[in-house]
Order: sequence, then structure tokens, then C-alpha cells
Amino acid sequence: MSLTKLNVTAFILLALGAATASAQDPTLAATPPMGWNSWNHFARNVNDADVRAAADTIVSSGMRDAGYIYVNIDDTWQGQRDAQGVIHTNDKFPDMKALADYVHSKGLKLGIYSGPGPKTCAGFEGSYGHEDQDAKTYAAWDIDYLKYDLCSYRQLMREQAPHDPEKQFQMYKAAYEKMHQALISFARPIVYSLCQYGLNDVWKWGPEVGGNLWRTTGDINDTWQRMSDIGFGQLGLAKYAGPGHWNDPDMLEVGNGGMTGDEYRTHMSLWAILAAPLLAGNDLSKMSPETLSILLNKEVIAVDQDRLGKQGDRAFAVGMTEIWTKPLSGGALAAGLFNRDTEEHPVTLHLRDVGFAERAKLRDLWKHEDVTATNGSYTVTVPPHGVVMLRISK
Ligand code: GLA
Repeated sequence: MSLTKLNVTAFILLALGAATASAQDPTLAATPPMGWNSWNHFARNVNDADVRAAADTIVSSGMRDAGYIYVNIDDTWQGQRDAQGVIHTNDKFPDMKALADYVHSKGLKLGIYSGPGPKTCAGFEGSYGHEDQDAKTYAAWDIDYLKYDLCSYRQLMREQAPHDPEKQFQMYKAAYEKMHQALISFARPIVYSLCQYGLNDVWKWGPEVGGNLWRTTGDINDTWQRMSDIGFGQLGLAKYAGPGHWNDPDMLEVGNGGMTGDEYRTHMSLWAILAAPLLAGNDLSKMSPETLSILLNKEVIAVDQDRLGKQGDRAFAVGMTEIWTKPLSGGALAAGLFNRDTEEHPVTLHLRDVGFAERAKLRDLWKHEDVTATNGSYTVTVPPHGVVMLRISK
């Protein structure tokens, strides 16, 4: 970014901060953030070399060009604070600034993780009482994204406001706002990702404390049960998402090995219809052609990243089959025909029911081919736990 552009951004951020005291930066995350996060595969074992390797593969695999820009280090990078309270990395990350420089040299951005409590979920150093210092350190390291995870702050809430859920809520909301203010005071655009598992309907106040995205649920894992419970459980949240502020049903498990290809295609399709952040969570150094074809399906990614920024929702449910739709720019619509059953089922989409005339154009986004409706409806057999994803236009 040029210096003038940076100054303008800084000015806008400061003006926004002064004018509203709290509001997420609308210039960030205009579409749902895309990238990779270390947690789902590496968990506590991630190190500098893994992150560099992930950045390399994001470029060589074509993921960067498909939109996966953020390389996010999750929990366990933290070392100790020095006598002045400044946070340092641990041995796994010898030089965070050098790592950021490396990631940036690849045309990517670097994300980091902390939380409002004294400790993170994995028991590492949190930002409690050091918010300004930490935000300053992140800015000095050239960090572009912060995931801020509630964790041990819950203990503080219980101690300081026992049996008072409303006070506990106000306490931790203020803690999220505090880090937001710290982040914007250093005028570096940092995507702010709230992680508090959807408590207190975070979608209703997440933007107020500067959230560009907020987790809507507890942690995902690499099973059909958990992934589908979370994904199909996102009913009714569409109106809370939009450019700069997104619902986050957690990171992708595609390619981690616990689900079938059809299940992973359901995962990717559902997340795209939900306008969810697409943060791959697999070992990028070992991707099968099928994993790559799922993560790199540009037609499905285009649904997620559509500039209208509308989240989709369930339109119909018949037995174990569900049709979810998402409005797209230019008057088009994405439709996911999902089958949650363990046996295949035919699913019929009536064009009129989703606002289209008989002669609408249909495209199958996994087969990458145009398909045709008959007498105004399209019937297709959907495999067990599978999906047929369509784009409908006039
Ligand atoms: C929580 C979060 C996860 C991950 C871990 C790290 O469980 O929800 O996404 O960040 O902490 O400890």
C-alpha cells in the first residue's frame, strides 16, 4: 500500500474511531475473509516452518489466486512477557516480523491469535491487561488479522460477577471493545475476528465492538455430524451478515480425512451459501486432487465471495433434504440441494418457488456444466450426505 493510501486509511480509521467509538472497519473484509488457519490440522504443533510451507503451497497450488489470502497462526505461538510487559514469541516462532515479511513477499497476509483473558484456550499468554501493548506489537510485526478468543476470560467473569450473567456479558463485551480500540489506535488495518462461540447472540452486537467476523458456534471437528449440525444450524442469521461483518461457523475441515468427498463438497457448498469465511484448515502440503478440486472450485468460491455480500438461508426442507438459497449480484441466485440422509434422494427445485421463470439458466457448480429445467423444475438425484449446487440466472 502506498504511503498516501495508508494515511487515508489511517485517517478514516481514526475518524471512525472518534465518531462512533466503536464500529467495525468497513474497508476490511468487504467479502468473507479467505485463507488458511493452523488449528484444525496442526493444533498445538504449528511452527514457523509450517506457516512458511503453508504460504508457499497457497501460492503454488493456485489457492492465493483463488482468493485464499490470510495465513493465520492460531494458538500456541506465544512466549513470555518481558519486564516491560511486551509479549514475545516462543521457540517455535523465532522471528514474527521476519515471518510476516516472508508471508507478505508472497502476496499474502499474516494472522495471529490471542484473547482477552490472562491465558488462551491452550494455556498460553493472553492479552489481559496488555491490550494496548499487544496491539502495538502486532502492528510492529505487520500483522493483518487477529482472532480474539474468550477462553480464560470466562473464569474472570465468574469470579468478578458471580451469578450475574448480564454483568458478565457487559464485562466481556467491553473486553472485546477494548482490544478493538487498541487495534485501531495503531492505524494498521487488522481484520478483527471475535471468537466467543456465539454467546449472547454475538451477531447482534459483534459489529459494535469492531468485529469483522464472529464465531457463531463452538468448535467444529472433522466429522459429518459436527460439520452438518453447525452448517445446517445457521438458520435465521442471514440478516446479521454483510460487507465488513460476517457470521463465522468456524474453519473448514476439507481435506483433513474424516469425511467423504461428498461430505466435504456439502461443507464447502454450505459455507459458500452462508457467506462464511473460507479458512482452509488442512495440511496444505498433502492435498489430494479431490481436496484441491473442492477448495479450488472457483464457481463455488464466487458464490461465497459475491459482492452483494448476502448470506443465504434455508428455503425448503422435505424429509432429510433441504434447499438453501443465497441471492447473488445481478439478480442471480445460488441454490444448494442438500441430502442429509445416508441414502440417495431425488430433490426437485421449482424455479417459480425461488423467483425465476421457466426459461431461467441453470448451472451445476460441481459438474461445471449448464443443466436444463423441464417444465419449470429441475429434479436431480443427490447422493447420501451430498449436494448439488446450482447457479440460477435469468
Ligand atoms: C478455541 C477456539 C478454536 C482454537 C482453540 C485454540 O477452542 O474456538 O478455534 O482457536 O481455542 O486453543
